[in-house]
Amino acid sequence: MSERFRVIGGSHLVGTVSVSGAKNSVLKLMAASLLAPGTTTISNVPDILDVEIMSELLTRLGCAVQHTGQSVSITVPEAPLHRADYDLVRKMRASINVLGPLVARVGEAEVALPGGDAIGPRPLDMHMKGLESLGATATIEHGYVVARAPHGLHGADVLLDFPSVGATENIMTAAVLASGVTTIDNAAREPDIVDLGEFLISMGAKIEGLGTPIISITGVDRLHPTSHKTVPDRIIAGSWAFAAVITQGDITILGSHPGHLEIPLEKLTSAGAIITSVDNGFRVRMESRPTAIDISTLPYPGFPTDLQPMAITMNAVAEGSSIVTENVFEGRFMFVNELSRLGAHIHVDGHHASITGVSELSGAPVQATDIRAGVGLVLAGLVAEGETIVEDAFHIDRGFPGFAESLQSLGADVSRI
Ligand code: UD1
Repeated sequence: MSERFRVIGGSHLVGTVSVSGAKNSVLKLMAASLLAPGTTTISNVPDILDVEIMSELLTRLGCAVQHTGQSVSITVPEAPLHRADYDLVRKMRASINVLGPLVARVGEAEVALPGGDAIGPRPLDMHMKGLESLGATATIEHGYVVARAPHGLHGADVLLDFPSVGATENIMTAAVLASGVTTIDNAAREPDIVDLGEFLISMGAKIEGLGTPIISITGVDRLHPTSHKTVPDRIIAGSWAFAAVITQGDITILGSHPGHLEIPLEKLTSAGAIITSVDNGFRVRMESRPTAIDISTLPYPGFPTDLQPMAITMNAVAEGSSIVTENVFEGRFMFVNELSRLGAHIHVDGHHASITGVSELSGAPVQATDIRAGVGLVLAGLVAEGETIVEDAFHIDRGFPGFAESLQSLGADVSRI
């Protein structure tokens, strides 16, 4: 039987938390280490299951991976293997990030299709079209994306239909070893992309325009291993900010860049939060019930889809009505059904959720369907009368190291059972 979180409602979270390195960055950095033979070391690595899965994947590709404390060293061979099997890819979507580096390094990659997941379909057409523009063939064969470029890749102008994080990453990590110049237009601008780009630059890549919609990459013949510190996890930092507001608490969030959360923090300020800068982080205080706020998820610097469940939870207990619009992942409202079990008043119509705030939720058993939904439900349990059991805690463990322990240190009555 899998672990569950038991949450007793009623506490205001007060205290200080430290934010780890970003899951959505470290996994991509680990995959990109394939680009250079030798030993690359990544620090500020969060203690999460997905890091173990990526280590296993890299090991199967011929790398030697050593994980000690908050650091991972990856020794990449001259000729890595090129197949990422379904049993690992299905466990962790970020496996798809080995596609670009493998095509660029060994001229061939076979990566199992990750399939859909609890937040909806997640196609790969832009990844494949991007690699084709660089001269690879990319097809789907027997459940695998197969990309080949036996004669190497060449630079190209790539225009993305949507600023996809994953597609930008795969194209960038292929183009760094292509001959000539690649331009990615309508590129993703997430801090994770900037982190990956800086990692590649430290390996000897030539990249300009990181953090803007146009990234320009001049290919080089060879990259060298590097050492790099992972960017702080803005989604975890943002989740703590929402936790302070939802529970009418006072949390100081250290080791994070508030600049990566401009829009979410602006929304929380409109909801009534008092947000101040402190050395190496920021503090979020809430002295009253939040005011309902309309929110639309968008690619960075817009409001992140990964904070949407926290935004819905806040609005569920806020004063007034609101609309939350999901523009990135269509399946992300699955969590609303669970929140409704706690007495939230939410009506979903397409990609809009209309929420009427209630003054108190009421504890019940609910199910975490993905990491962020799980965090949202635990936070909801903190403002629900009585006991809430959140099933399938492993989802939360996949992306939020030490969540239960941090909650306890802030005064929450939370345990794992
Ligand atoms: C997304 C988030 C990212 C978050 C991550 C983990 C956005 C823009 N991206 O990145 O911030 O950290 O999830 O939860 O918020 N798409 C296609 N074809 C493709 C690729 C993507 O249609 O080839 C669509 C997806 O279905 C989705 C949208 O583009 O609707 C964004 O996808 P993408 O940014 O690629 O997703 P992730 O890289 O998983």
